[in-house]
This record gives sequence, C-alpha cells and structure tokens, in this order.
Amino acid sequence: MLTLAPLKDEHPRVGAAAGDVGAIDGGWVAARDGVIVATGKGDAWETLELTSAASVVDAAGAVVMPGFVDAHTHLCYAGQRWDEFAARKSGADYLAVLERGGGIHATVRATRETTDDALVALVRARLDEAAALGTTTIEVKSGYGLEPDEELRQLRVIARAAKDAPIDVSPTYLALHALPAHHAADRKAFLLAAMKTIATVASEGLAEAVDAFVEQGVFETAEVRPLAKAAKEAGLALTLHADQLNDVGATEFAARMKARSADHVAHASADGLRALARGAIPAVLLPGSAFYVGYAPPDARRFVGADVPVAVATDHNPGTSPLVGMPTAIALAVTLCGLTPHQAIVAATINAAHALGRGERTGALVKGRRADVIVLRSDDERELAYRLGAPLVSQVFASGREIAA
Ligand code: NIG
Ligand code: FE
Repeated sequence: MLTLAPLKDEHPRVGAAAGDVGAIDGGWVAARDGVIVATGKGDAWETLELTSAASVVDAAGAVVMPGFVDAHTHLCYAGQRWDEFAARKSGADYLAVLERGGGIHATVRATRETTDDALVALVRARLDEAAALGTTTIEVKSGYGLEPDEELRQLRVIARAAKDAPIDVSPTYLALHALPAHHAADRKAFLLAAMKTIATVASEGLAEAVDAFVEQGVFETAEVRPLAKAAKEAGLALTLHADQLNDVGATEFAARMKARSADHVAHASADGLRALARGAIPAVLLPGSAFYVGYAPPDARRFVGADVPVAVATDHNPGTSPLVGMPTAIALAVTLCGLTPHQAIVAATINAAHALGRGERTGALVKGRRADVIVLRSDDERELAYRLGAPLVSQVFASGREIAA
C-alpha cells in the first residue's frame, strides 16, 4: 500500500520526499462514510469493529494507493480537431494556426453550437472516463467560450456535470485563453470584461480558480496582472498556463502573484524555478501537450533539482493533449520529462492535490482524509510508468464509494 507518506507538517513534496510514496508492505486502509478512519499493516485490521453495511475488499497482493488527482484539464468542449492535428504533424505551427483563427477558436465555434444538455453529457462522459482510469479528483476549466457570457455558460455546464459525478470536480474560470478576432481593435475592453466576470463567477460559486494563457502573441503578464489581482480580491485562486511554448516570464509572474500552481512551464527560466521553489508553488507538468505538439517537454530534473514541487496532469483537451487518463500522463512524465516512477506517482497524487488546494483533503491514505483509493492490477506501482496503455487500474473508490469501471 502506498500511503504517500504524509509528513508531520503537510506541504508539497520536494527533495527526498518528492520520490517517497510511503510504501507499507501488507498495508490496509479502513473508511467510514467516505472518510479514512484508520490505516495499518498486517492483520491488525481484524480488530476493527465493522458496521453491518461494511464491505471488505481484498486487494490480493495488488497495489493499493490514493486515487489520482488530475490538476489540469479542459474537459468542457465539443468537436475534435483531427484536421489541425494532421496539419501540425505535417509541420504547421500551433501558434500560427491559432493566429489564423483555428486551434482554440475552432473548438470555441463547435462548443458554442452545442446545447447545454449535450455539453453536460459530454463533460459527464469524460469525467466517467477519467474516473474509470483512477482519477478521483479533477480540475475542469472553462475557456472555450472566450466571451464572458459563453464562459459563464460553460462554468454552469461544468457545475451541472459535477453535481452527480462520482468524483470531486474543481472548476476553473479560464478567463483569458485567446482573443476573439472581432475584439482585435478593442483588446482592452475584452480584458476588462473578463476581469469583471470574476465577480459573477465568485458570487455564484462557479469556480475555485482563475486561469490565463500567458504566451507570446496570446496574452502578456501585464495584461493578466489586473485579472490576477481581481481573482485574489474575490477570494479565488490563481493558476496560469505559463511559459508553455516560449519563456515570457510567466513562471516568475505566477510566483509573484502567489498562484496556486504554474502549469506547463516547459520553457520556464532558472529565475522562474527559483521563484516557484521560494513560494512552494507546484509546477504542473503536462507532458501530453509536449508529446502531441512536438515541443521539448519540461525537464523535470531541473524542477526537482531546484526544489520546486512537481505535479503531473493530463491537460486533456482536443487541441494539444487529447490523451485520456492519468496512467498515460504518468508514463509520459517519466519517459519524456525524466521523473522517476515514484516521483511521478507523488506528482499525480499528493502534489497534485496541493496544486488544487486540496493537500490536506486527498492525495494520501491517512486518517481523516477522503477515502479516495484505487487498486492496481499489479503488485508493482512502477508498472504505471512502464506498461503504457495497459489497463492497470482495477478498482476505484471515490469518497469510499466504488465506481463501476
Ligand atoms: O493547455 N495552450 C493553451 N491551452 C491548452 C490548449 C488549448 C487548445 O489548443 O485547445 C493547453 O495546451
Ligand atoms: Fe491547458
């Protein structure tokens, strides 16, 4: 059993702890009403008093560990981008496609044309797919609306899909993802409108965080600063698409604005890394988009070496990262980014929980935490990083309830 070695004083894992999965041979975990009530090893569990409705699950020597936390996804979209994918594989540039009104804009058009009910069904199906692959907590961004009203619609769709979902959803208002072409002449007004939307998002409880795509030719740090401040003032967290394709100083900026996480960071500077380390701010590595788009993936060893807490997520979206499920993200984080298998597991559980402000609630098998537990179809957790594509998750429990895989 991997407990993810809770520290006395819980904080994002760096240094030796970044690769410590807290393994216990013959471990067990007991839960009641969705909450872990005890953990231990050997046959000590037999002294527990079972309620009449209790069930005992024998993992039969397989690995038991916390459910995965996917800290960065764009699940709320309609349509696919096969043509763009093929064009990029033949050499088209991601940012050039976006500039020409394709890319994110293509998904915006398809999403806008889809009814609320159809979108709820799409999001819900994607949540179920993620859950079946072991994800028990997931962040979901809006961002394919661009215009405030359409962004709010997407956040309401996410809320509806989350309501009866089997797993915990952390919604994010991706306020600045791309500039709609017809706003080219009034960029400032568009930025202002996005900022003003935060009040509605906060008062209706539609998101926990605000996000922006800080990138060359997309949005600059100076444009995002007022948004970041407004988010903080409204009591929302900040997270950023930072230095994904170019170093634009977004990682340092994220640290300066006390972001909850800095995501992508494939091109983050050494100063950026130092700033994250100082603030104990998790870097959320997204190897899927580097894999599909074909840019150099973030070098995880730079982050680990600089004592930056590292998390890993799928970045599931129809453009840069159509991959599904955390096991694949873990395998890519090891093969492309250079995490060890155990570092990738820490990055996909407890550090990812920290990246979502849930470092005390899930991500580890410890008394008092939510009973988010998975059973692998393997007696060696390193298989997650090794047998890419294998169906390695056999059972998933979210808040103590088994999810039909
Ligand atoms: O995380 N780069 C910005 N946002 C997404 C991709 C969005 C899209 O291409 O649809 C990302 O890579
Ligand atoms: Fe993303």
